[in-house]
Amino acid sequence: MIINEQATAMHWDETYRKGRRSLRVTPHEIELFQLHVKTAPGMVAVDIGCGTGDWALALANVGLDVTGYDFSAVAVATASRLSMEAAAADEAKGKGGQGRARFIEWDVTSDVAPPFLEPHSVDIVTCRLVAAFLPMQRFLVRAAGWLKPDGLVHIVTAVDERLDAAAQEHRGLKERQIAKLGAGWKDVHSYAVRADRSIEAIVLQHYA
Ligand SMILES: C[S@@+](CC[C@H](N)C(=O)[O-])C[C@H]1O[C@@H](n2cnc3c(N)ncnc32)[C@H](O)[C@@H]1O
Repeated sequence: MIINEQATAMHWDETYRKGRRSLRVTPHEIELFQLHVKTAPGMVAVDIGCGTGDWALALANVGLDVTGYDFSAVAVATASRLSMEAAAADEAKGKGGQGRARFIEWDVTSDVAPPFLEPHSVDIVTCRLVAAFLPMQRFLVRAAGWLKPDGLVHIVTAVDERLDAAAQEHRGLKERQIAKLGAGWKDVHSYAVRADRSIEAIVLQHYA
């Protein structure tokens, strides 16, 4: 049997133990997110496959209450530590009023429900650079059940056909796979995270 190494928590634990971090979250990426997803302080967000938590922490910085889930224990421990360090640094600077981030170990493909996640309780489900590792149709049906009536799913993925050789480590989806993500959703739009569209965001709302 061939086991896809990148599909195991063990693979990711090892990757993160070596100190690897994912694609850096830039202020521009957050600006684009806020342009396309109208956020308000206190909104509830869930970040699936949060890794070391950079994206979840960036969302907390714009006021969201974020729970990051990942099946890598090393990722979750690192994200929790970085989150505590960021909170301590904010407190030392007298900065307050920002959202919160917490991190929980959970395998998206398991049949067990994600801890602390009630049905129809979430404003925004994010999924950054993870889609290529997940059975997306099944995941999206599940995510739809977590959303409040006007909640949305925000997916960021690399686009395989547009990645140059240097960026091949960012495993992505093929254009035809991306086109299928909106199946069953009433409102679908996408935007370029990188100007060359090698990284794209897809926003899904109102699952029918
Ligand atoms: C390329 S990293 C992206 C990390 C993060 N979202 C970011 O943008 O920096 C993919 C992440 O997905 C997580 N992942 C993959 N399959 C998963 C699953 N079945 N359940 C939970 N997390 C998963 C991995 O552990 C890894 O942290």
